[in-house]
Amino acid sequence: MPGFAYEPAMFKQVMSGRAVSKDPVGTPDSPVVVVAADPYYAQNVADEVAHRLGIPTGNASTLTDFSAAGPSSIAASAGDLADVALRRRVRRSAHVAWVRSARHGNQREEAESLAVLSTAADAIIEFDPSDDGGVSESVDGVLRSLADKPGALSPLVDEQQMVFGDGRRTDIVVGHGVIDRLKDFVHSGCRKVAIVTQAGIDVTVDCGVEQRVFEVPPGESAKRLDVVGDLASRFAQWGMTRADMVVAVGGGVVTDLGGFAAASYHRGIPVVHVATTLLGQIDAAIGGKCGVNLPEGKNLVGAFWQPRAVLCEIEALDTLPTREFTAGMGELAKYHFLGGGHLDRLTLTPRVARSAAIKADVVTGDEREVGRRAILNYGHTLAHALETAGHYDLRHGEAVGIGLIYAAELAHRLGRINAERVAEHRKVVRGYGLSTEIPDGYDLDLLVDLFARDKKALTGITFVLDGPNGVETVPVDDNTALRETLDAVI
Ligand SMILES: NC(=O)c1ccc[n+]([C@@H]2O[C@H](COP(=O)([O-])OP(=O)(O)OC[C@H]3O[C@@H](n4cnc5c(N)ncnc54)[C@H](O)[C@@H]3O)[C@@H](O)[C@H]2O)c1
Ligand SMILES: [Zn+2]
Repeated sequence: MPGFAYEPAMFKQVMSGRAVSKDPVGTPDSPVVVVAADPYYAQNVADEVAHRLGIPTGNASTLTDFSAAGPSSIAASAGDLADVALRRRVRRSAHVAWVRSARHGNQREEAESLAVLSTAADAIIEFDPSDDGGVSESVDGVLRSLADKPGALSPLVDEQQMVFGDGRRTDIVVGHGVIDRLKDFVHSGCRKVAIVTQAGIDVTVDCGVEQRVFEVPPGESAKRLDVVGDLASRFAQWGMTRADMVVAVGGGVVTDLGGFAAASYHRGIPVVHVATTLLGQIDAAIGGKCGVNLPEGKNLVGAFWQPRAVLCEIEALDTLPTREFTAGMGELAKYHFLGGGHLDRLTLTPRVARSAAIKADVVTGDEREVGRRAILNYGHTLAHALETAGHYDLRHGEAVGIGLIYAAELAHRLGRINAERVAEHRKVVRGYGLSTEIPDGYDLDLLVDLFARDKKALTGITFVLDGPNGVETVPVDDNTALRETLDAVI
């Protein structure tokens, strides 16, 4: 039976709750960088790590050049790692351990430093600040993360495969440097590869055959039929044939356009997506939906066209604007409740890989969204209403974050989940630096009207709600409950 298999061996990086290793770590051969929201806390932990390992304490100023220094333990802040080139260098030549309070979800954390620390960290160590401030727990965690490293500073790469009933396959490869794998997915006989991308996406690819870059304009407004038509004309002028292929390098706008151009050029040629936004990696590039907007509505013309492979280049996320990164986390937050569990305790590569795996699993079971695929719209009913009513001044993922809280409050009101489960939703969304409240200025009655326009079923409005059987679609016909529940998210 064709199916989807996911190998979870990679979740080695979950540090929390594991027994303290008795194995001596030995002297690390590279610097250890301890980062925390609170610089004094980071310094305390770094000092103790230095003491336990018998190595000197370093200074954050040495982050710019490790070459002269031997192994040392250095405390650093998100600000010290803000520069993209420096962060990349540090990640390659040091072990970056992020010590994070287990209570981080109690208040909204600063998005900018969350994005920096999320992209920098080789390990995330959660500590409980209730006992001795958690210092010894954090130090144990840092030492354990050093001992657990799969190889000297070797980056983690995750590979998975979607297999459809008729034998089609999509490889999903997640990690640092995975664009180097692109050549593996260029089929023999392919002579030309069209790289569809946007200006400003600083990711260069090498397909190993003749290739040419075709830029599309930025933004949602670029998802138009004439942009696809223009791409196809340029493909034809270049002499691309049915034997050739498209590689889309970018976020959801690029993979939607590149995917649809590939789906329709010569009635369909292969496509590989190189996803460079967080939203693209965990959502847009996976599942084969692609298409464009019409003046009459979003995504009204398109196709199901499965990519040959999806390469999620984690390195690309370094340059993503903070707001795009944080918004992607809003979409990612929904996977906590679709079987993902504590994704926030994972470093970026396994976090993206696990989220991608959940989407891939749902899509392989219901490629054309006749049933279960709808659960991927968890949090989306309010999100779509907010996007429509607010004329898109919220990023999609930001709206999904608020939508998740609303869906949890509604499920609670309908007796499907308890108050703790609602609190968990709030903790997860806040912990990613997102708001849990509808911004001022929205007409709440209008939002309820818009729910009905989003997904009107015969028996009521179809919501995706958490409950005793997990997240599922539920018809709701009680408009008073829908309106009153909005008061819980303002
Ligand atoms: N097909 C699907 O299943 C599906 C699912 C979800 C969303 N989508 C679509 O995805 C689109 C949104 O995607 P998105 O959030 O990725 O937005 P996007 O593609 O517009 O990218 C956001 C911005 O980031 C820039 N960018 C991309 N990668 C970068 C990088 N590595 N460094 C710096 N800048 C970079 C882009 O040029 C763009 O300006 C929407 O059109 C939505 O409809 C499709
Ligand atoms: Zn979405």
